[in-house]
Amino acid sequence: MRILFVGDIFGKPGRRVVSMLVPELKKSDNVDFVIVNGENSAGGFGITPKILKKFRNYGIDCITSGNHIWDKKEIIPEFENALNLLRPANYPESAPGKGARTFMDGKIGVINLSGKTLMPSIDCPFKAADREISKLNTPNIIVDFHAETCEEKRALAEYLDGRVSAIIGTHTHVQTADAQILPKGTAFITDAGMTGAFDSVIGVVAQKSMNYFTLGIPQRFDTGKGNEQLNGVMLDIDENTGKAREIKALRINRPLPPDNKPNED
Ligand SMILES: [Fe+2]
Repeated sequence: MRILFVGDIFGKPGRRVVSMLVPELKKSDNVDFVIVNGENSAGGFGITPKILKKFRNYGIDCITSGNHIWDKKEIIPEFENALNLLRPANYPESAPGKGARTFMDGKIGVINLSGKTLMPSIDCPFKAADREISKLNTPNIIVDFHAETCEEKRALAEYLDGRVSAIIGTHTHVQTADAQILPKGTAFITDAGMTGAFDSVIGVVAQKSMNYFTLGIPQRFDTGKGNEQLNGVMLDIDENTGKAREIKALRINRPLPPDNKPNED
């Protein structure tokens, strides 16, 4: 089973890149299932129902998230119907939505987790992973671990090695050079990276970020522009055993045509 995972889609540049590259990659690489992290897709802060609908039209099967999931309040009622949108499984049980579910008639499961270190999670991601794995009745499980530190991500990967097909780190927006298959067959990368404009500070206009750090004054973090890329991974999983056959990091430059609605973030 071939799975495309697209790293954190940041604002309009990220959305435009996936609109072009996801359909292309699905064809060229015989992709069976597409997961994207979409929590920064609305101008860096959350996701809207309109964007969710667009993502479905691009052929995206599952949208994971993280600490920005509640930024756009209009997404909350969508959790009633939008079964392909996940929030971290280690948020409170009473929070809207779910943190894990199966797709493709139960053939593949996706678990979304958030780190505890420097992140606002409530419950332990390790315990939440144990709980969700026991409920998903498939060997093919992909985990999006949305976390700040390399250490926490690697520790979870070691903890789950052989029990899930892949653990893909997200949130830092910087792709790491450590895509690998762990000894018991689980694919891992510390961070899949960002999909958006790289002439920026992790997606934000550089001057705004510099102002924030040099002046200490909160800034409106506008979406950057230029050097647009898709960052992510391509996975190949043996669907009978759930073991990973291959993990390949993707960094694809995609110059964008002129934007006819330049004011939308
Ligand atoms: Fe995040």
